[in-house]
Amino acid sequence: MGQQSPPDRSDWWRDAAIYQVYPRSFADGNGDGTGDLAGVRARLPYLAELGVDAVWFNPWYPSPMADGGYDVADYRGVEPLFGTLEEAELLITEALELGIRTVVDVVPNHVSDQHPWFKAALAAGPGSPERELFHFKQGRGEHGEIPPNDWVSEFGGCPWTRIEDGSWYLHLFATQQPDLNWAHPLVRSEHEEILRFWFDRGAAGVRIDSAALLAKDPELPDFVKGTDPHPYTDREELHAIYRSWRAIADEYPGTRILVGEVWLPDAERFARYLRPDELHTAFNFDFLARPWDAAALRESIDSTLALHAPVGAPATWVLCNHDVTRTVTRYGRRDTRFDFAAKRWGTPTDPALGLRRARAAALLSLALPGAVYLYQGEELGLPEVENLPLDRLQDPMHFRSGGTDPGRDGCRVPLPWSGDRPPYGFSQDSTAEPWLPQPADWAPLTVAAQSADPESMLSLYRSALELRRTEAALHGDKFEWLPSAGEVLAFRRGDLLCLVNFGAEPAPLPEHRTLLLASGPLSGPALLPTDTAVWLRVA
Ligand code: GLC
Repeated sequence: MGQQSPPDRSDWWRDAAIYQVYPRSFADGNGDGTGDLAGVRARLPYLAELGVDAVWFNPWYPSPMADGGYDVADYRGVEPLFGTLEEAELLITEALELGIRTVVDVVPNHVSDQHPWFKAALAAGPGSPERELFHFKQGRGEHGEIPPNDWVSEFGGCPWTRIEDGSWYLHLFATQQPDLNWAHPLVRSEHEEILRFWFDRGAAGVRIDSAALLAKDPELPDFVKGTDPHPYTDREELHAIYRSWRAIADEYPGTRILVGEVWLPDAERFARYLRPDELHTAFNFDFLARPWDAAALRESIDSTLALHAPVGAPATWVLCNHDVTRTVTRYGRRDTRFDFAAKRWGTPTDPALGLRRARAAALLSLALPGAVYLYQGEELGLPEVENLPLDRLQDPMHFRSGGTDPGRDGCRVPLPWSGDRPPYGFSQDSTAEPWLPQPADWAPLTVAAQSADPESMLSLYRSALELRRTEAALHGDKFEWLPSAGEVLAFRRGDLLCLVNFGAEPAPLPEHRTLLLASGPLSGPALLPTDTAVWLRVA
């Protein structure tokens, strides 16, 4: 461990700023147009300067990329497009030397159809022990031609695929992602070993993909409406699984964290995953999905804090990730909520309005008590790319919707680093074509262009993250709403106030000592314009 390793704070994760790297699109170190670990290593100083405490990497494992790496063929390796295991180990160490911890993504619900277990199961045939690691079933109907139940894939369409011998296998996501049978002891022990494998290599935590879906009702019954949760969601067995994971994490020094991707509408059920002997935190999708509206966001903040308090877990604040529409685009629309089911081509957006709100949202979320997640490019104010050529799209969500859902490629376009035309410094070799094309008008959004501009989104994020680190008021749990007029959210944390104006009219600022940061220009010395946020020191 190097000189500048992070201070040994066992509670580092409770108020951490965690940056999400989508390795394929962060930076390309070998010039082939695909991001890789060499690219990340070269850009670690950028992350240190940005001021983040940890990085969560989307899957970097060997994968046929049927679902952007969430189809894992080997949980103990690195995809050759991205580099080698040795580079991953170096990356973890080098990041730590700059004070940045590494969180890896684990994908327990399913494997790739190219994973050795699934290949062995196909080869071994019906009734074999190899097939018991998955959900193979006979179909219904006279000739077994009807899928075993009525479930619908998370990506749309039927989650069952029939193979040559006539049996069907379950895949809640794409066909190439067969679901594991979590009732099998080998599935459990294998994943416990995978956790140890990455903790042994210095990972400070794991992000658990589709964490509420692993266990299924053993009968795999039809879903009877009104009997929520669904037979494959939020089952009691999951808690024992995560307790055993927590016991493993707790064996390691320095606090290794478990972060769940838990999409559950029921707040009380959600909180059960965060009990002291289960996961450390989970992503706050409620906050992410809310519209740009004072009452809606206030309600989300209140319910978030209320549901976390009894289990003693910190809240998390998330505005976007690799699965959802980029904030700048979403907030510029008429309907500013996020909803997978509502994603459609050609939804108009006002980018200037979206950017103004995204800047205010940054100050709002970075001032709240708890941990915060930033998705790469969020700090640059990148928009969703909505005009990718159809023949370049990769996302199975798009294809399985029959083309009605634009899919998630638009938020995964490679980052612009410098220069005035693609690949904007993304690839070392400027002739390499990025795996997804970048827009022709991204020159003002590059890291280089924004670094030189004190008014840029990047400068705002840098300043806000620095204050978040240095201002004692922003540490810990203290939080108190202040009375405010109209559509203004105002809260206090120690001697620091955060105000956000969602209303159409400028709002008066309260008396204060210092204006620490504003998301945009004020309308007068003491007037907060619409869609603008400020941080003030009062005492
Ligand atoms: C999670 C991931 C998403 C992936 C899916 C299947 O929701 O965030 O990107 O497609 O799981 O692994």
